[in-house]
Amino acid sequence: MKISFASLALPKKGVLVFPVADDLAFSVNLQKLNDASDGAIIKAIEAASFKGKKGQTLDILGGVGEYDRIILLGTGNDEGCVDSESEVQNLGGKLFAALEKAKIKNAVVMLGEVVGGFSPDYVAAHLAYGAKLRSYVFHHYFTKKKDEDKPQLQEIDFHLTAHTEAASKYQTLESVASGVFLARDVVSEPPNVLYPESYAEKCKELKDLGVKVEVLNEKEMQKLGMGALLGVGQGSVQESRLVIMHYNGATQKTAQPIAFVGKGVTFDTGGISLKPAPNMEEMKYDMGGSGAVVGLMKALAGRKAKVNAIGVIGLVENMPDGNAQRPGDVVTSMSGQTIEIHNTDAEGRLVLADALWYTQQRFKPKFMIDLATLTGAIVVSLGNEYAGVFSNNDELAERIFSAGQHSGEKVWRFPLGKAYDKQIDSKIADMKNIGAGRGAGSITAAQFLQRFANDTAWAHLDIAGMAWEKKGLDTVPEGATGFGVRLLDRLVAEHYEN
Ligand code: BES
Ligand code: MN
Ligand code: ZN
Repeated sequence: MKISFASLALPKKGVLVFPVADDLAFSVNLQKLNDASDGAIIKAIEAASFKGKKGQTLDILGGVGEYDRIILLGTGNDEGCVDSESEVQNLGGKLFAALEKAKIKNAVVMLGEVVGGFSPDYVAAHLAYGAKLRSYVFHHYFTKKKDEDKPQLQEIDFHLTAHTEAASKYQTLESVASGVFLARDVVSEPPNVLYPESYAEKCKELKDLGVKVEVLNEKEMQKLGMGALLGVGQGSVQESRLVIMHYNGATQKTAQPIAFVGKGVTFDTGGISLKPAPNMEEMKYDMGGSGAVVGLMKALAGRKAKVNAIGVIGLVENMPDGNAQRPGDVVTSMSGQTIEIHNTDAEGRLVLADALWYTQQRFKPKFMIDLATLTGAIVVSLGNEYAGVFSNNDELAERIFSAGQHSGEKVWRFPLGKAYDKQIDSKIADMKNIGAGRGAGSITAAQFLQRFANDTAWAHLDIAGMAWEKKGLDTVPEGATGFGVRLLDRLVAEHYEN
């Protein structure tokens, strides 16, 4: 879907969209159309009891002057709009859905007036961004879909006076959307197509944006002593990979980087501690954390963020096999710490253990944030509303929290501490890979990761409840969400650019 911006002039014909707040005040152009059509718009508003509530639409068919279709888009009012940005974006998503449902191919949004206290250029850019985010489809495996069942909307053209300002604001947002789409693409791909090696190849696309991409194979990881990560991939015929992405955008080329680390389990069967069959296909999204890292790198590079950022993703497939890792095995991680495997389904932390250690050793980053679909327990705690955040650094945790409020990708902090940490002590090795009892599964997982953060400022985002959307949201269609890209792009923009 194309997004464009032009001057406030009324087009000659087509489908016009007018935002209308719940005071039902008309913009100059809307008033003109109403006057020229004998009050047709007011009549339609009354007949349909249109109230201008946020997201409510009124489709006026059959001709107002030379226009065969006028759509009013309710914007409500700005009361209670704490995170106003995502509110406007959500409205853009609703707009997209309404246009798509009406099978409209081209629409012109007339932004004459200030909407909800925001300037038209701000509103246009964020409406466009919300619509763009909602427009994502993953449909290249359909071979029999009829044309009329495919997405219809080809273009939304925003008409407003400050159209150049809107276009430039949107350009930045569109780069973030491209990152979100990349994250959704890799998560959506089936696990027979996207496995560690093919995924690593795909990451090389980022080179076009000036991102340096390195790929380590199993031999190279063995040399580094990454026994924790390699143990997970051991039962798979697919070789494991570690992908390292460098984006150097800071004004000072040698500035200390920030780092993002992702769990990339391209499929998680549980291994020898095999998962039950129902819904196991969902475990293709067990690489959602890595998808967010790759998408974030694309977003940062695309919008030329003034920051040095490193992305590291650990790619493995967790399979049962004659050669698979067993419960009872002891592996040695790159850090030298030994791990007794109690459950081969607690594999994400093993992958991250080596990826985190490698990242802090090699790059000495200002901080590192890992993202992982790590535990079912986080879904029990927070459902699909918030990601869990765990951190050894209050400032970092606070900044991530507030980026969450502003971006609409929300996080909630969990505690860490000695009492939880003790639960992963093993009787025969430095630690075991699951906690003692049944409680606090997300926290003991985070404690495990903390042992590999060393002294680096670190935060862990457990996104198991956020990587896949079952119902569909305003800016997130059903399926892969790309969760984390908008959040972390926002974190970087707010605090780490120079
Ligand atoms: N990938 C899963 C966690 C998960 C669950 C992600 C649901 C998305 C949705 C992870 O590898 C896992 O299997 N965790 C186990 C840990 C347990 C064995 C300690 C879990 O949560 O059950
Ligand atoms: Mn697992
Ligand atoms: Zn997993």
